[in-house]
Amino acid sequence: MSDTEAGDGRRSSLHGFWSSKLAFILAVTGSAVGLGNIWKFPYVAGENGGGAFVLIYLLCVFGIGLPIMMSETMLGRRGRRNPVASMMLLGEEEGGGRWWGVVGLSGVAAGFLILSFYSVIAGWVLAYVMQSMAGSFVAADAATVKSLFNALAGNWQATAGWHTIFMVITVVVVARGVERGLEQAVTLMVPALIGILLILLGFSAATGEFEMGVRFMFEPDWSKVSGETVLAALGQAFFTLSIGMGCVMAYGAYLPQETSIPATATAVVCADTSVAVLSGLVIFPIVFANGIDPMAGPGLIFEALPLSFGNMPGGVFFGTLFFLLVGFAALTSAISLMEPAVAWWVESFATTRARASIIIGLIIWALGFLSVFSFSLLADFRFLNGTFMDNFDFLTSNVMLPLGGLLITVFCGWVMSENSVNDELNIGQSALYRTWRFLTRFVAPVAVVLVFLHAVGWLDWLMARPIGS
Ligand code: TRP
Repeated sequence: MSDTEAGDGRRSSLHGFWSSKLAFILAVTGSAVGLGNIWKFPYVAGENGGGAFVLIYLLCVFGIGLPIMMSETMLGRRGRRNPVASMMLLGEEEGGGRWWGVVGLSGVAAGFLILSFYSVIAGWVLAYVMQSMAGSFVAADAATVKSLFNALAGNWQATAGWHTIFMVITVVVVARGVERGLEQAVTLMVPALIGILLILLGFSAATGEFEMGVRFMFEPDWSKVSGETVLAALGQAFFTLSIGMGCVMAYGAYLPQETSIPATATAVVCADTSVAVLSGLVIFPIVFANGIDPMAGPGLIFEALPLSFGNMPGGVFFGTLFFLLVGFAALTSAISLMEPAVAWWVESFATTRARASIIIGLIIWALGFLSVFSFSLLADFRFLNGTFMDNFDFLTSNVMLPLGGLLITVFCGWVMSENSVNDELNIGQSALYRTWRFLTRFVAPVAVVLVFLHAVGWLDWLMARPIGS
């Protein structure tokens, strides 16, 4: 295959195609729905005071995230290679230069960092499958549940063991490339997850401080909003949608030419958002009814959810199933976090998928120990934003992903020719197209830059100067 077939946007894929449009939606949904929705969204919302954060987050998801997801998919499909090679190729083709490949490279790096801590949390979820099955939560109160969590997080050997198990499973799946089976699994998993969340919601409504929970989630207290709140909301939007690092681009490379990008992206964003909002509505009523601190941080869901399962009829069954499903959702996300790196490694170093997955998996596993220790041996070793894990999380979600997204949106809005864009989006000059283009050229890039400036305090400094001084 040569690069010269590039001109008409009908390059063929190096790795085959998704079996159907639904398969792509399922794969990207599998990537998007994960710990970001169930574990991270409630705890970040809790740390940032709820209401106003949630509204800003929703605005970021639909106003910035959705158009960027469309852009990222489009770049992947047009490049038809791993994110690094695709961006280099498109950069050259569209007259922007090969250096656009750095977007892909920074994505590969972000994937390493994210998966290194993601796997640690996913490990806890696996541990909770066992705890739930063993009946540890039955009739438990808040103090018991909290001490169970502290015993796990504070025990680095146990945490490392579960982290290792999760990484091994991820590497085996990625190495064997069994995406087909996963597509089917996602079809069951997402509806089942929503089903259990609805059962939990019923339980929260009946026994929790439901009204207080809903108020906390949706009643904005603008006085609590600072530059960091807005940055946290933007970072969460990128993280939960899996955008800004090439995941969606890598998956887009296997997308058939006929599939509608706006329709698929919208479906994924709506599914992802429903799971996150549901998860918040489940957690906060329990949090308030049991005197749990909403600012509890990464342990929040592990301190709150077992209280529901431990006190509802059939809780052992539902609890086990729930944590299994969350573990599975984490697996489909973890796979997508490795995909850009693996595809890049295979295409650049002419090695097998299995070998590349194992090497990359080993590096990520080793890096994960810094997050494992963040709750035990190194819990008091704090710099910049906190522990190693806090810093990996902040650096990726709040810096690397928005920066990657900024470059993606600038590329699609300003570098790529309108002809190429039309080739991919295929929605002519419709209102939808004009909205996308406006969001992509102006809203998304300006918003990301403003949020950065605001977060580092420069915006206030600039605004405080009279014009012309
Ligand atoms: N979106 C996933 C979640 O919510 C995590 C994830 C998968 C991700 N791929 C990503 C985050 C790429 C950022 C970038 O759990």
